[in-house]
Formats: sequence, C-alpha cells, structure tokens
Amino acid sequence: MGGRSLGNAGRALPASTRGRPGPRGRPAGAALARRPHAQCREPKEAMATTIREASTDEIEALFPLLLLAEPSERALRWSLANLSDAVYRMDDDGRLVGAATMRWEGDPCEIVELAIVQGEQGRGLGKELVAWLVAQAGRRGKGAMTVGTPNASIDNIAFYQKCGFRMDEVRHDYFWYYRTPRFEHGIRVRDMLVFRYALVDGGKTHASRRRR
Ligand SMILES: CC(C)(COP(=O)(O)OP(=O)(O)OC[C@H]1O[C@@H](n2cnc3c(N)ncnc32)[C@H](O)[C@@H]1OP(=O)(O)O)[C@@H](O)C(=O)NCCC(=O)NCCS
Repeated sequence: MGGRSLGNAGRALPASTRGRPGPRGRPAGAALARRPHAQCREPKEAMATTIREASTDEIEALFPLLLLAEPSERALRWSLANLSDAVYRMDDDGRLVGAATMRWEGDPCEIVELAIVQGEQGRGLGKELVAWLVAQAGRRGKGAMTVGTPNASIDNIAFYQKCGFRMDEVRHDYFWYYRTPRFEHGIRVRDMLVFRYALVDGGKTHASRRRR
C-alpha cells in the first residue's frame, strides 16, 4: 500500500472535490525518457526503460497496477477524477513495469499513486520512476514534491527515504474511509505519513545542491 493521494484518503476528502477533470481526455504527452537500464542490480544486457504520459484509453488497463498502491477502487477512481492531472506508465523493453499518477497543480506537486509490477520490484525501477518524476518537477519549476504512505507501510517508508524524501507530517486517522480495518506487518493502517522532496532548498535547486 502506498502512494496515497494527500487530498483524498486523508487524501480523499470529498468536501474538497476540485471538480477538475481528471487526466481523461488529455492527449498523450510524449514525455519519453529513454535510457539504458545499466543500473539494474542484476547484470542484464542494457535494456531501455521508457516513461511517458498514458493516453486516455490506456488508463483503465493501468488499474490493476495502480490498485497495488491504492487498494480501494472507489478511492482510486475518486483520486483519478479529482486529484491527479497526469498518469504515467513505465515500460521495460515494451513491457509495462510501472505506473504513477501525479497532481502537478500547485506547489508542492504530489505523487498520488505509484506502483511497480510485483515481479519487477526490487530492481531499482521504482527509484528510477521517482527520479524521473522529480526531474519533471524541476523542469516545471516546482519547489517541492510530496507523497503520502500509510503508517503501516514499513517498506514504503524505507523506499521514499531511499529516494531522497524526508518525513514531513502525520495526518491522523486519515484512512477513516476503509470500511474494513486494514493491516500491514501486523500494524493497523490508520494514519498518513507525508514525505517531502525539496527541489529548492534555501534557494539552492535540486540540481545545484547535487553539484555541491
Ligand atoms: C514501493 C515500490 C514502488 C518500490 O519500487 P521498487 O522498484 O520495488 O523499488 P526499488 O527497487 O527502486 O528500490 C529503491 C530502494 O528502496 C529500497 N526498497 C524498496 N522496497 C523496499 C522494501 N520493501 N523494504 C525496504 N527497502 C525497500 C530498495 O532497497 C532500494 O534501496 P537502494 O537504493 O539502497 O538499493 C514497489 O515495491 C511497489 O510498487 N509496491 C506496491 C505498491 C505500493 O506500495 N506503492 C506505493 C509506494 S508508497
């Protein structure tokens, strides 16, 4: 469970329906990132991962993957309709391996959902997808990016910190909308942990900090 929209689940507060059309009907922006996949753990011949905005008619096919991040289909459909304004897919040699939804509106921008196909996890693809989204945020002049994950998602808490995010706030009882209690690692899913990636830190951009 991870990458829950910070508007909806805590993050999916109907009151704040933004009434903004979701990414549906948005032309496929060919935001293609092609790079050899040499940094995978397993020695493999270079493979090409591509990341691009999904076209409207591709979104439904991404649902099974996005449901890994937000298991409530109701909440997922709500966030696609009310929060996210772009859906991205990641392919590895033409095979779908990952997907993410983004709210680009406002600053900080936000990773709403993020997931890597189960059999492809642990190969560095999640980190690569997050790094690509962070670079996009930099190109859009964003100062920061946020993402939320449940208190019980120990894996994701490690994952986002490994991607350079810092803990930012706790939203208590955020997951009020789960009709049946959910548990991970024997811990009840209750609160949303919000993580933040500072692209601009004290005037220093992500890139200039990296040059330090
Ligand atoms: C969370 C998720 C996106 C991570 O993607 P991934 O491709 O498996 O992660 P990566 O291989 O890129 O790992 C990046 C780093 O995070 C660490 N990491 C990843 N999963 C981890 C886990 N379960 N426990 C601890 N660390 C983990 C890796 O060790 C790696 O660290 P390193 O850079 O020091 O080697 C993926 O596991 C997933 O889709 N999970 C199900 C859906 C979900 O929960 N999505 C939302 C995330 S909030």
